[in-house]
Amino acid sequence: MIRFTLNGRPVAVDQAAPTTTLLDWLRASGHTGTKEGCAEGDCGACCVAVRDEGAPGGARWRAENSCLVLLPQLEGRTLVTVEGLATAEGLHPAQQAMVDTLGSQCGYCTPGFVMSLFEATYREDLGKDAASWRLDDQLAGNLCRCTGYRPIREAAERVAGTRPDDAFKAALSEEAPRPAVLSHETDGERFLSPTSLAELWPMLAEHPDATLVAGATDLGLQVTKRHGRWPVVIGLERIGALRRLEATEESVLIGAGVRLSDLEEWAHEGLPMLARQLRYFAARSIKNRATVGGNLVNASPIGDLAPVLLALGATVLMSSVEGEREIPLDDFFVAYRQTALQPGEILAAVAVPLPDHDTRLGAYKVSKRRELDISAVAAGMAVRTDAIGRVTEVRLAYGGMAATPARALLTEQALMGEPWTAENVQRAAAFLDHDFTPIDDHRSSAWYRATVARNLLLGFFDETRENPLAPLRAGHTGTLEVG
Ligand SMILES: Cc1cc2nc3c(=O)[nH]c(=O)nc-3n(C[C@H](O)[C@H](O)[C@H](O)COP(=O)(O)OP(=O)(O)OC[C@H]3O[C@@H](n4cnc5c(N)ncnc54)[C@H](O)[C@@H]3O)c2cc1C
Ligand code: FES
Ligand code: FES
Repeated sequence: MIRFTLNGRPVAVDQAAPTTTLLDWLRASGHTGTKEGCAEGDCGACCVAVRDEGAPGGARWRAENSCLVLLPQLEGRTLVTVEGLATAEGLHPAQQAMVDTLGSQCGYCTPGFVMSLFEATYREDLGKDAASWRLDDQLAGNLCRCTGYRPIREAAERVAGTRPDDAFKAALSEEAPRPAVLSHETDGERFLSPTSLAELWPMLAEHPDATLVAGATDLGLQVTKRHGRWPVVIGLERIGALRRLEATEESVLIGAGVRLSDLEEWAHEGLPMLARQLRYFAARSIKNRATVGGNLVNASPIGDLAPVLLALGATVLMSSVEGEREIPLDDFFVAYRQTALQPGEILAAVAVPLPDHDTRLGAYKVSKRRELDISAVAAGMAVRTDAIGRVTEVRLAYGGMAATPARALLTEQALMGEPWTAENVQRAAAFLDHDFTPIDDHRSSAWYRATVARNLLLGFFDETRENPLAPLRAGHTGTLEVG
């Protein structure tokens, strides 16, 4: 039995298959205000708001794509859909703003936009002084094909960060129900949801072949696009220990379950190179669920975090009933979509040494569309030089160039100990052709990938001549700007 609160009312579901998406369940149970557009996290028509009690700094409302949430992942949660916003006093400010700015025409996208605006309403970091790109970022996961975005953006300006003293704000201070293990089974399919590592280990011992799921932004696609079904799924998202985000002067420990929107928020100040990459990593509603662990364990050659973390010299902590072991991230990706995780082991955290202020740093993502697209090539670069400008440390990591994210070791070697000059960087860039033999596919040709990889290195040199980490422009556009 899955229990949660929907629009202020308790709900108990016992007959849904564990892979039922929240969107399908909502619509089948009459909550048809929430729409389906793409069923793959791209359009935002299905956005709902979920109270996230595990967020750093206290509970928050999160706009999430219900097409990629599995119903059992709602166990113990509080959920609001567009039907739950208006009260006897009138529309919610997010709805009223859409009415006042004429932000809706056919209305298909409107419930999704309203739920993103709902999240924006209660965000503490979206007050009047918030940078303008943050509003674009808030809405980036919602598509509208008829109204045009100007009025919708104006609605966002009216409500973002206003935090009215209403029941939704009060709900953020209410205590969440004490989490309890969920074991939900129908027709031979089971979803287990432990709330601690201690509860997880016996489940893994009993079901060594269980499929793990965190945010489900990858796994959910297998359900919606490939009718994926599994005998046993174990959800990791309620394990608090996996959401640690602990920084010291020297390093940061990022729990595998840390959601990318939380990581991005911390990284603006804590590790701007990472924030730079996360700006172009999917839309906020995806980042509200996607986790660091999910991104690394899916081991996609075009996953966007790996190149940056490889360049920073990260290590991964893997955990099992037997304890923890730590290996460099360089050794984690063993083959195409395969990692060093052993049966019974999970990724627990990533430890990242924080670079000092004069390390030159770059993070790049190149895709067909500038925003919210899958990378053709991604790169993370870190270079240190000594007092006379010779390279003493260099890590150049690429995604999209090989079967796994990988470092350009020969190119690094060609730079090591040499003066960091345009001529030397140009000369070393030729070694990228020996480091990688990229493939042709529908995203780009091998020639394009090889050319982009070289140009990113040259661009990195240019971009970091004056400033070790070029700041991103205030606008929500391109990662790489060359003067
Ligand atoms: C619309 C859309 C846009 C996207 N954009 C990008 C993008 O720009 N860049 C990019 O890199 N990716 C992107 N992705 C892919 C995806 O969002 C990320 O890879 C995300 O970080 C996956 O995290 P998750 O928690 O949702 O993973 P899940 O789907 O929950 O899990 C993914 C895999 O990791 C395993 N897993 C998860 N956590 C652990 C753990 N702690 N230990 C062991 N195994 C674990 C699961 O078993 C599963 O095999 C996008 C996806 C969508 C739907
Ligand atoms: S239906 Fe398009 S994002 Fe969910
Ligand atoms: S109002 Fe028609 S899709 Fe947005």
